[in-house]
Amino acid sequence: MDLTYRPRRLRRSTSLRSMVRETSLKAEDFIYPLFVHEGSAVEPIGAMPGANRWNLDSLIGEVQRAWQLGIRCVVLFPKVQEKLKTENGEECFNENGLIPRAISLLKKEIPEMTVMTDVALDPYSCDGHDGIVSAEGVVLNDETITQLCRQAVVQAQSGADLIGPSDMMDGRVGAIREALDDEGFEHVGIISYTAKYSSAYYGPFREALDSAPRAAGVKPIPKDKSTYQMDPANAREAITEAQLDEQEGADILMVKPGLAYLDIIYRLREESALPIAAYNVSGEYSMVKAAAERGWVDERSVVLETLLSFKRAGADLILTYHACDAAHWLLKG
Ligand code: PBG
Repeated sequence: MDLTYRPRRLRRSTSLRSMVRETSLKAEDFIYPLFVHEGSAVEPIGAMPGANRWNLDSLIGEVQRAWQLGIRCVVLFPKVQEKLKTENGEECFNENGLIPRAISLLKKEIPEMTVMTDVALDPYSCDGHDGIVSAEGVVLNDETITQLCRQAVVQAQSGADLIGPSDMMDGRVGAIREALDDEGFEHVGIISYTAKYSSAYYGPFREALDSAPRAAGVKPIPKDKSTYQMDPANAREAITEAQLDEQEGADILMVKPGLAYLDIIYRLREESALPIAAYNVSGEYSMVKAAAERGWVDERSVVLETLLSFKRAGADLILTYHACDAAHWLLKG
């Protein structure tokens, strides 16, 4: 055939392919999510093979391992004891709570590791919602923000580097920015869950923290989070959320979940000059683990291909439970 262009010319050898490769993965791209609990042991999480609930002692070892693999940021999620859960989630701003203790310990033992937090009420609420639920069963926006600001300030006081509001209340980024600044934490950044969808992919995470919405008493409790998290059918709305977060002072924007929302990552990349993070959520992780356990897919190849797809779509950072495995595979070549 008389072809002018033969794209296969640049695919002929490993070296040629590596020369024209457009995107790459490195350990510094990853943010490693870790679950912590008060227990005395490391507890495996049934729905997330390979992931654990760490107690404070074992947490240090795991974060040291991540650091040695080149990971530079971890995010902490608490499994709060049932007896500490209340309707208004006051435990979220207890200075001696699990998360503040975990943050100060990490900053003392591994000061260079960037510590990110999650700001929302669900781990602390007996109703399992990210905000306060009224007697009528409505998730209250402004009342919730008061709690979130206190939570963010306590996290900053404990040494957190990046505050991650995951609650999707309107106006929370601006309110948290102001609360942090008022307390002298103008150097602490906000990584906002900007486009967080009301997704079934969070199932295993809610099992890990025992934080799914549930009725604790007589009050009606919304079954899902669709009055505050975004409708999976909407893409333009993500741009509005991104514009608001930027105006309110977010430093990094996040899209969550990641894999089913690559188009949203791409759109936000076009719209904003801020760094963009993708959250490769628990359900995405567990699906790969389940298929790999059955020998239906090759775990290493599928994980690296998936993580690369976030970078290709335009993400700078990836929150992933595969972080240590992936960093290890990248090091080994
Ligand atoms: C809670 C929160 C959730 C996740 C991160 N923060 C769950 C939810 O919104 O119900 C999900 C993470 C994952 O599935 O990996 N605010």
